[in-house]
Amino acid sequence: MYGKIKNYELNGQKLVIQFEKQEGIVEAYTDEIINVFCGFETKDHHSKAIEGEKRKETKVSVSRTNSEIIYSTEKLTVHIADEFKVDFYDKEGTLLCEDYRGKRAYAQQLSEKSLELIRAEGHDVSGENELDYKIQIVKKMQGDEKFYGLGDKTGFLDKKHYDYEMWNSDLPQAHTDAFKALYKSVPFFITLRENCVYGLFFDNTYKSFFNMAKENEKYFYFGANEGNLDYYFIYGAAMKEVVQNYTYLTGRTPLPQLWTLGYHQSRWGYETKEEILALAKKYRECEIPCDTIHFDIDYMDGYRVFTWNEEDFGKPGEIIKQIADMGFKTVTIIDPGVKKDDNYTKYKEGIAGDYFAKTPEGEVYVNAVWPGEAVYPDFGDPKVRSWWANNHKYLLELGVRGIWNDMNEPASFNGELPQDVVFTDEDRKANHAKMHNVYGHLMSKATYEGLKELDKKRPFVITRACYAGSQKYATFWTGDNQSLWAHLAMAIPQMCNMGLSGLSFIGTDVGGFGADTTGELLARWVQVGCFSPLFRNHSAKGTIQQEPWVFGDEVLSIYKKYVELRYRLLPYLYDLFYEEEKTGIPIIRPLVLHYEEDKETHEMNGEFLFGESMLVAPVVEQGATKKIVYLPKGDWYDYDTKEKISGNKYFLKDAPLSVCPIYVKAGSILPNFLPMHYVGEIELDTLILNVYPGTGEYLHYQDNGEDFAYRDGEYNLYRFAQKDGMLTITLEHDGYDKKYKNFEIHCGEEVKQIPFTGAPITVKVNG
Ligand code: NOJ
Repeated sequence: MYGKIKNYELNGQKLVIQFEKQEGIVEAYTDEIINVFCGFETKDHHSKAIEGEKRKETKVSVSRTNSEIIYSTEKLTVHIADEFKVDFYDKEGTLLCEDYRGKRAYAQQLSEKSLELIRAEGHDVSGENELDYKIQIVKKMQGDEKFYGLGDKTGFLDKKHYDYEMWNSDLPQAHTDAFKALYKSVPFFITLRENCVYGLFFDNTYKSFFNMAKENEKYFYFGANEGNLDYYFIYGAAMKEVVQNYTYLTGRTPLPQLWTLGYHQSRWGYETKEEILALAKKYRECEIPCDTIHFDIDYMDGYRVFTWNEEDFGKPGEIIKQIADMGFKTVTIIDPGVKKDDNYTKYKEGIAGDYFAKTPEGEVYVNAVWPGEAVYPDFGDPKVRSWWANNHKYLLELGVRGIWNDMNEPASFNGELPQDVVFTDEDRKANHAKMHNVYGHLMSKATYEGLKELDKKRPFVITRACYAGSQKYATFWTGDNQSLWAHLAMAIPQMCNMGLSGLSFIGTDVGGFGADTTGELLARWVQVGCFSPLFRNHSAKGTIQQEPWVFGDEVLSIYKKYVELRYRLLPYLYDLFYEEEKTGIPIIRPLVLHYEEDKETHEMNGEFLFGESMLVAPVVEQGATKKIVYLPKGDWYDYDTKEKISGNKYFLKDAPLSVCPIYVKAGSILPNFLPMHYVGEIELDTLILNVYPGTGEYLHYQDNGEDFAYRDGEYNLYRFAQKDGMLTITLEHDGYDKKYKNFEIHCGEEVKQIPFTGAPITVKVNG
């Protein structure tokens, strides 16, 4: 396909290689990030995931042997051979990753007779397809690989022996681990080996295919039938560094507004303003903290986006104001499909401005979604994004505080959009095949930019569909899960892998969206939900109601316990977001991210870390009241009993319905807020510090929780350190005027109130 190497040239840090049939490029972005490119479709990248100049000046060298070109940075050496075979080594000469030299072949070849029988019963036959994709990268298995990432996929933490597709899909069936694609496409994965770890990011927006040594134990591959060969080898001394490098390239989630980290209630559908008001009152009556109520599609007039259903929801904005007075923030859903209706302003504006996708013949393309016949804004066109962005003025003026983008795969009720529907890719035309996987990405980018410009606050945008890099603009939920124990269990590896793929601000529908939940399932789900960055109970029309009070007093009190825990932990969670914006390290982390040398963590599907200090081992099995817990090395404290436990072992923990096993690393100092019902209810002038004896340091971040002033230095940073039974508190950055007035220090049974003046403090703590 590429032929033999003819010659090469080094332009700056870019190595251009002439093969007999193609021109290949190997280019260092940093010492640890190397791009491999062949422009089958375009000569440049046109990346949607990578924005701005990410190439750092990097010292590279090139030499030639008989059979290879050798290209080196300070950290990596790349060997390039005929047929554009590319192998990566570290500086010590250890082989990290090499191209497979053989031909792809199924490990098991079936006879024509067997194939016929399989087909006869209606099964899929994977032994009859053409194997090779037009663009494919086949890497040799060294035997010790584990695979993580790939965005939002079903199944277990380690992706080895599974295959996946990147094609944003709205599939209503219960998501099982046989599913190859869901709503999001993040063509990035991490390979962990015994002596190294690296990531591979295939920046190709067409439908792509990932096979993690399922087809054949000898290799793993990724490929597509269109677009460019365009992938990044991302190295790091540890898994954390690979995540850091990947998010350096594709971006990180900016710090959110504090209230967005509170608890959210939603349901499709609350159909009237009376229902919404009753819901709000019930929350305050039960004293379950809640910050946000989501308005699903029923608030719109006939599902026309940027309109209001006055018949059922009253005067536009009135109900939003009413619940705002009780401390609730409103998030409204906005779908991309614009109703085809000659009397509807947004449709008319879109037609006049030429804002909608077209058929190849030049007609506006029509499919159907909630409002019936609908047309699709062409978000790849900057002028369409800016029109869409401005449309949010209407909602913001009504008091809306965040936008929930749904159905943006894009979904369609009259069959999938044909591949040749014409969209725009910035300054050129592109077809649906190319733009499909970035449709949700571009929609949420438009929404983010609109809110940022109009509101000046940190935009809160939730999206269902996305591509690599969407984390710069949005928050994600895992779409239409169901009230099934299997879906609760899956939520853990699912969120862990999303986090490793740059998607940090994530959550599942607590209680499950489709199917009917039970009290027990809801009680167990809130125990996972309260650690999910996006903490929202949401369910579908036609399913049993699943607000916390539906299943009686026991479930209600468990629900309350965990929502209250979430509110106590808000400053810790906010600190994790502060860290995430700087490093890309996610909030929910698989144990392997911090303990990669410990093999027990490599396939740990039933536990996760909430930041580095807290380990959560939820019960996700119907009827179970015990959990087998694994704690990695070091000392830990049981969050409930305060018992000290040494790690590096499994043990059985009693976990009746009211208990989610939670452990805190010795030496941790966890900041907590005082109880509240919503963000903004009380002055946050006291910070509780829960001290878990040991040696440790902690950096705590504080700002106004709303806007971008922190980027101009308006924030405070406190350093807490404990050693030899003494705790010190120092203010390291003093930029936000509402400093804490008090610290309330909890250590074991002891509580100490310490007023704070800004000067360093040292106190004795047990230990
Ligand atoms: C599908 C979304 O996934 C779900 O969350 C929403 O409630 C429905 N669409 C109705 O808008």
